Amino acid sequence: MPHQNRFLGWENPGKALITGASAGIGLSFAKQLAQKGFDLILLARRKDRLESAAKKLESDYRIRCEIIAADLSDMDQIEKTADLIYTIEGLDVLINNAGFATIGPFAGVPLEKSMRMFHLHATACVMLTHAVLEGMLRRRRGAIINLSSVAAFALTPGNVMYDATKAFVKTFSENLQLEMEDADVRIQALCPGFTRTEFHEVGDFIHFDRREIPDPLWMSSDRVVSLSLKALENKRKTVFIPGWKNRFYVWLLQHSAVVRSIVQDSVKKRSQKKR
Ligand SMILES: NC(=O)c1ccc[n+]([C@@H]2O[C@H](COP(=O)([O-])OP(=O)(O)OC[C@H]3O[C@@H](n4cnc5c(N)ncnc54)[C@H](OP(=O)(O)O)[C@@H]3O)[C@@H](O)[C@H]2O)c1
Repeated sequence: MPHQNRFLGWENPGKALITGASAGIGLSFAKQLAQKGFDLILLARRKDRLESAAKKLESDYRIRCEIIAADLSDMDQIEKTADLIYTIEGLDVLINNAGFATIGPFAGVPLEKSMRMFHLHATACVMLTHAVLEGMLRRRRGAIINLSSVAAFALTPGNVMYDATKAFVKTFSENLQLEMEDADVRIQALCPGFTRTEFHEVGDFIHFDRREIPDPLWMSSDRVVSLSLKALENKRKTVFIPGWKNRFYVWLLQHSAVVRSIVQDSVKKRSQKKR
């Protein structure tokens, strides 16, 4: 397939590293960046999935694709990954995407699980971002997309760590972009709503029935990613919410106490059902 070059006006696409690239939104980023000609480094825990994705991407898009099998909820493995990233030349794009959700009140979720989420969503995002920035600032080109969520705008009991870590990612990205203003490095906090991926099929969500959420509120991961990359190219807002329905939902969350309480009740019910 021919490459659609000149992403962000760059002469030659360099390398892109995507965490959580074995499924869902991360895999969509991998495909769309490969289509733009980037060589890829795919990171996730499931090595077999990464190997087959890498093979297919290499043959479909004539790019080079490496893999890193690592668990970014583990401090040691985050440190090792960051150390490795400092040594990679020409890393122009970083997508901090890997993530998961839990169901249940904070005190009821094992602390170890909450800390794993904290490390995956927050610590890994901070350390990997720090590791790529040195090279990006030196070369005066780079793009970092950090996966936040519409949950960053919500306060939902039963989802305390998820809301809080996604809010951290949003604020971290927004503030970092202010520091990057003269540096030709673009940062985005991507805040999707319900997206059809494996997210609602793994861990605590294994018994989640997608039909609980009306069909028109779901987006495909390919659509989320194409809107995100377009927004980055067009220098749209650092905090980017894909799709008008998601933007309207966030507006309602911010302006309507009734909507806030409906959302809080539904998350609370789900968290009680699980116990
Ligand atoms: N789907 C939604 O409705 C939605 C909405 C808003 C925001 N998001 C955010 O979007 C991001 C991607 O989620 P998704 O919907 O694409 O979910 P997904 O289909 O479940 O994919 C999650 C990815 O993260 C990887 N991952 C999970 N734990 C990991 C760990 N400890 N270390 C390394 N990699 C890990 C998984 O691979 P392995 O299992 O192979 O490690 C997988 O590649 C997440 O940050 C999520 O919070 C999702």
